[in-house]
Amino acid sequence: MNDKEENMTKNNNKVFQYQSPMYLVVILAISVIVAEMQIMVCFHFLPPFPRVIGAVIDSLLLFIVLSPIIYFFVFRPLKLHVSKREEAEKALMLANEQLQCNITNLKQTEEKLRYLNTIQISIRKINEILLTCKEESHLFSKICDAILHVGFIKFVWIGVIEKGSSEVKLVAQKGFEDVFISSINIDLKDVSSHLDPVGKAIHTGEPVDLLDIERDSIKEPRKDEAMKRGYASSVAIPVKDGGEVVGVLSVCSDKKYAFGKEEMEYLTEVANDIAVGVKSLWLEKDLKRSVENLQKTLNGTIEAISLMGEMRDPYTAGHERRVAQLACAIAKEIGMTEDQIEGIRVCAFLHDVGKIVVPAEILSKPSQLNEYEYGIVKSHPRVGYDILKRLEFPYPVAQTILQHHEMLNGSGYPSGLKGEEIILEARILAVADVVEAMTNHRPYRPALGIDKALDEISRNKDDLYDAKAVDACMRLFMEKGFRFEA
Ligand SMILES: [Fe+2]
Ligand SMILES: [Fe+2]
Repeated sequence: MNDKEENMTKNNNKVFQYQSPMYLVVILAISVIVAEMQIMVCFHFLPPFPRVIGAVIDSLLLFIVLSPIIYFFVFRPLKLHVSKREEAEKALMLANEQLQCNITNLKQTEEKLRYLNTIQISIRKINEILLTCKEESHLFSKICDAILHVGFIKFVWIGVIEKGSSEVKLVAQKGFEDVFISSINIDLKDVSSHLDPVGKAIHTGEPVDLLDIERDSIKEPRKDEAMKRGYASSVAIPVKDGGEVVGVLSVCSDKKYAFGKEEMEYLTEVANDIAVGVKSLWLEKDLKRSVENLQKTLNGTIEAISLMGEMRDPYTAGHERRVAQLACAIAKEIGMTEDQIEGIRVCAFLHDVGKIVVPAEILSKPSQLNEYEYGIVKSHPRVGYDILKRLEFPYPVAQTILQHHEMLNGSGYPSGLKGEEIILEARILAVADVVEAMTNHRPYRPALGIDKALDEISRNKDDLYDAKAVDACMRLFMEKGFRFEA
């Protein structure tokens, strides 16, 4: 019996005491005492019988008179006072109980709010990860970390079904130990795969929970391993893109029956977020593949155009390819970006495309060209520019081709530009072009060799050729062992 119950019992006893006819007994006792006192007085003076009768009658009359007086002036007020106090105590007790109940509810509400806040933080974090992380392995790994942050989940793994595949591929797992699951052997073509909770979730498109791993009748192939690690319940949520299941989110808790309505709503939202991530990665992969294919097509087209020139002038076969090799190496040596280097490569392959207007006889003439013939050859940068100026490249291809025979002192062609008027790509191309040309055989002369070529650019550094490009070219041949590909 607790304190409250004891107090209530005591109060009830008091009520019983004052509401009972005991008070009549008390009055009677007082009356008898008074009567006896009268009898004693009577016997003291006169013992005859009528006096005794008179004393008894007096006592009864006294009893009749005293009873209501004592009742109304003593017992009734006392009874009312006690009743009011009891009522006040009861009301206080009820208020106290109500207060205790409110405090308990408040604590539960606070705990619930804290829990829901943790869930909200986890979802916000997952959304941030989706926006900032573009690499597949990091993306899913970080999502697993955010899920574990919620607290009631002790292990999580994410599986993805690649396009055109029927197998579930494990992409991330986190928990007490990250290698709990070594592999996922779920092939959706296998009819028995739906017996696995994960397989069933994917087949049905609905979550499958094991609220008590130890007792649940559904087949759990990882049951023993899970129990060894203290996992008591688990749930597999299908990851759906529209109506299509593209993966699965599976989590374990160390508590039985850990997945109520709110937990399932949270996990479903996370699964939807994962679906967005999977879709985004797939789109990115498709886009990357398309860009690569487009780049391959562009490169093939550029090399085909270059080959057309070589077919007209077999004596310079491979010239563009070798110029591209050296020009890219120089660009890399002076610290240009990957995009700029790619632009230089395209320019090098196309730089002599304008020679298409030069008759083959001139191109393969075994002696020095006359002024007229040289004039035709000198038109090739502008022709190349006119051919390519309408094509939109992400780098200045037409401009580089137009300027690749310009010299720093203004002695070049077709515009006689000087110094910084010539764009860097064209200055690099000019160095690579002359070194390759001098190193190889021409119809009107034998190959002069790399030493003469390097002597030519170093003697004319800052005069004809860009100093930075010349220095880089010298370092490549003299220090870094650069050689033209065969
Ligand atoms: Fe040229
Ligand atoms: Fe050339």
